Amino acid sequence: MRVIEVRRFGGPEELVPVDRPDPEPGPGQVVVAVSAVDTLFVETQIRSGRGGEWFGVRPPYVPGDGVAGEVSAVGEGVDAAWTGRRVATRTPDGGYASHVVVPADGLLPVPYGLDLTDAAALLHDGVTGLGVFEAARVRSGEWVLVVAAAGGMGSLLVQLSKAAGAQVVAAARGKRKLDLARELGADVVVDYSEPEWTDRVREGADGRGPDVVFDGAGGEIGRVAVAVAADGARISAHGASSGGFAPIDTDEAARRGLTVRGIQDLQFGPEEYRRLAERAFDEAAAGRLRPVIGRTFPLERAADAHAAIEAREVLGKALLVC
Ligand SMILES: NC(=O)c1ccc[n+]([C@@H]2O[C@H](COP(=O)([O-])OP(=O)(O)OC[C@H]3O[C@@H](n4cnc5c(N)ncnc54)[C@H](OP(=O)(O)O)[C@@H]3O)[C@@H](O)[C@H]2O)c1
Repeated sequence: MRVIEVRRFGGPEELVPVDRPDPEPGPGQVVVAVSAVDTLFVETQIRSGRGGEWFGVRPPYVPGDGVAGEVSAVGEGVDAAWTGRRVATRTPDGGYASHVVVPADGLLPVPYGLDLTDAAALLHDGVTGLGVFEAARVRSGEWVLVVAAAGGMGSLLVQLSKAAGAQVVAAARGKRKLDLARELGADVVVDYSEPEWTDRVREGADGRGPDVVFDGAGGEIGRVAVAVAADGARISAHGASSGGFAPIDTDEAARRGLTVRGIQDLQFGPEEYRRLAERAFDEAAAGRLRPVIGRTFPLERAADAHAAIEAREVLGKALLVC
């Protein structure tokens, strides 16, 4: 089988294809022949050496934490009926691989009508996106600001907010991304690489600012996104792609009546993870939620995928395909 290894922390060129012996499932395990591998922005940060300690990662390692494919072998104690089934799964030992060995009790059947690529795209963004969306309790008629709105998770949050009857201000960088956000239903689009962009957010959101902020960028972008929110707003400060989470003054937040949730509120236990993933799959299979897959790359070209993600070129998500 083929896997992609990070030999040492560094640039995308450190992602190197290597051959390994075909895996055998142990008791309670299955082998999945992988069709599509999820990739995440945070994986580029870890590969570059930022956050490796926080995530407990040391090279050499196989990156990635989620795949979709077909069960090709089952181990002792596993129902043989799994063989040949379309599944998605987290991959604790790395997912950038043509085959993975995973515990059978973590398998998520991929419903009829959902592509394996779409299932892979939803494994993280669908779960986290639904998690933050449910917690924010978005109501019909409210104004929602989605920051990094054309990213993997942001593109889902725009759709979920519209489906709940909210009005959406989508903030992202560049025309292609703003066009995508409009296509997904955003009522107002704002380019946050332009100065005073939050003035346009406030104007767009009835002149008083959004009731809910989903911050998928963090840093200074996140700080001003929180500042423009209406008093009493619910904030999800989960984003750190700009280099760190949004700095939020807790006294100021309390004075303004803001409810703030952060990355620490996004740790889902196995049952909750399964519920959210199944909901994301069902919504997508029914055509109510569309994961945006901007680019796919052959597994061997994982380095090109990371380069494209880092260059912020990708609309929605990049996936690796086998
Ligand atoms: N996916 C998950 O399950 C998960 C879980 C926990 C936390 N998060 C956080 O949630 C956010 C969204 O996650 P995602 O995986 O869906 O990522 P993503 O939105 O697909 O990619 C990150 C986006 O951040 C924006 N960005 C803003 N400033 C940036 C900068 N200085 N450098 C690079 N990018 C910058 C870029 O959009 P523009 O080009 O439009 O600026 C980029 O496309 C991320 O901040 C991530 O850390 C995600």
